[in-house]
Amino acid sequence: MKMWAGRFTKEEDSLVNDFNSSISFDCRMYREDIEGSIAHATMLGTCNIIPKEEADAIVAGLRGILADLESGALSIDPEAEDIHMFVEEILTNRIGDAGKRLHTARSRNDQVALDLRMYCKREIREVQTLIRGLLGAIADQAEKNADAVMSGYTHLQRAQPVTFAHSILAYAQMLIRDLSRLDETFKRTDFMPLGSGALASTTYPIDRRMTAELLGFHEITLNSIDGVSDRDFAIEFCSDLSILMMHLSRFSEEIILWCSSEFRFLELDDAFSTGSSIMPQKKNPDIAELVRGKTGRVYGDLQTLLVVMKGLPLAYNKDMQEDKEALFDAIDTAKQALKVFTRMFETVTVRKDNLRSSASEGFINATDCADYLTKKGLPFRSAYRIVGQLVGYCIQQKKTLETLSLDEYRTFSGLFEEDIFGAINLENCVSSRKAEGGPSMQSVLKQIATVRELISGS
Ligand code: ARG
Repeated sequence: MKMWAGRFTKEEDSLVNDFNSSISFDCRMYREDIEGSIAHATMLGTCNIIPKEEADAIVAGLRGILADLESGALSIDPEAEDIHMFVEEILTNRIGDAGKRLHTARSRNDQVALDLRMYCKREIREVQTLIRGLLGAIADQAEKNADAVMSGYTHLQRAQPVTFAHSILAYAQMLIRDLSRLDETFKRTDFMPLGSGALASTTYPIDRRMTAELLGFHEITLNSIDGVSDRDFAIEFCSDLSILMMHLSRFSEEIILWCSSEFRFLELDDAFSTGSSIMPQKKNPDIAELVRGKTGRVYGDLQTLLVVMKGLPLAYNKDMQEDKEALFDAIDTAKQALKVFTRMFETVTVRKDNLRSSASEGFINATDCADYLTKKGLPFRSAYRIVGQLVGYCIQQKKTLETLSLDEYRTFSGLFEEDIFGAINLENCVSSRKAEGGPSMQSVLKQIATVRELISGS
């Protein structure tokens, strides 16, 4: 018999129970549910809304349930309607009538909003810790490869000289933004909704700020209707995770390309690659491909949340029970992706020699060659045209800017002198890009220091 069966004359149909039940997925919020109830009961007792001894009995009973669930002495009943009903029912079985006072001045609507906010707060912090782990791995690889000259790409065509460190530090910047986005989401999640009741708060003299303080919430929600019907925090979290996955997916795509025989910039550790069932020579970047693939799944979760909420009138509607599976899936997927991606990236071998040799094949110092002429007084557009002709000549002669003779240079412009060879040397091209945010060693070391500071400051 359901707790709410008072006004009903029939048992619910078994199909209804299965369809209605959320215990199979909201059971993962058992800790939040129990901690929330402990704070609520403590507040009820302190405010003399229920007798102090009964509040104490409830708190002790709830602590026992938590301990038993963690030890495995008590298991979740899959027949229960949801985690909130399950905990309350066990409590009443264990401590008797006092347990029936727990739900005073509370509804499952504000209870589930509370549980979900608490769950998100904890998970936001966990995701941030994993992001910091990946940032550490990027800083380590950047340090080891600070001098590894490679071509940077635009349109996937060789463009200008950078270093491997500078390339991967671009991803560090994305992850740093992810961290700050999650901080912002945390702030808006950190509002305590209990006391909103079903939607219209309560007539009992509750102290919501006490409950908030007991649970470590910074603020309380200020409108009871919004308190039970807001899921913005879940959508924001899922949106942050989608953006994070987009970054991991782009990074994965890069790793997949760099591991190919066409690039040969990276070699994955055997423990982080897989073979083919038919082609004995294959070493596949499955992990990176799956991270890329699972990104679509997290976008799907975000879409689910947005669509579930889009047509809902105030306040709580049962549709909102559909928020959890999508959100949990997004969190699980992003955490798993971060963990495995970090390990994979830590163990990858960077082929500096291949990075360097492919950098010398694509005229990526052509801009530097034009800049050389510009620094000798030629307007940039004229210099650009001359170097375009030079490149055309090189292609025709199967030469590079490095292998042309000075005489050949001088047939294109009398401004060329012996120092042109220093000006187009790739190492020099990188080191002279000293502008803040550029690929020079100085700038890369600064970027690494910023990442390190951010990780240690946590
Ligand atoms: N299992 C529900 C959910 O996840 C809890 C709230 C139910 N409230 C209600 N009045 N039916 O949303």
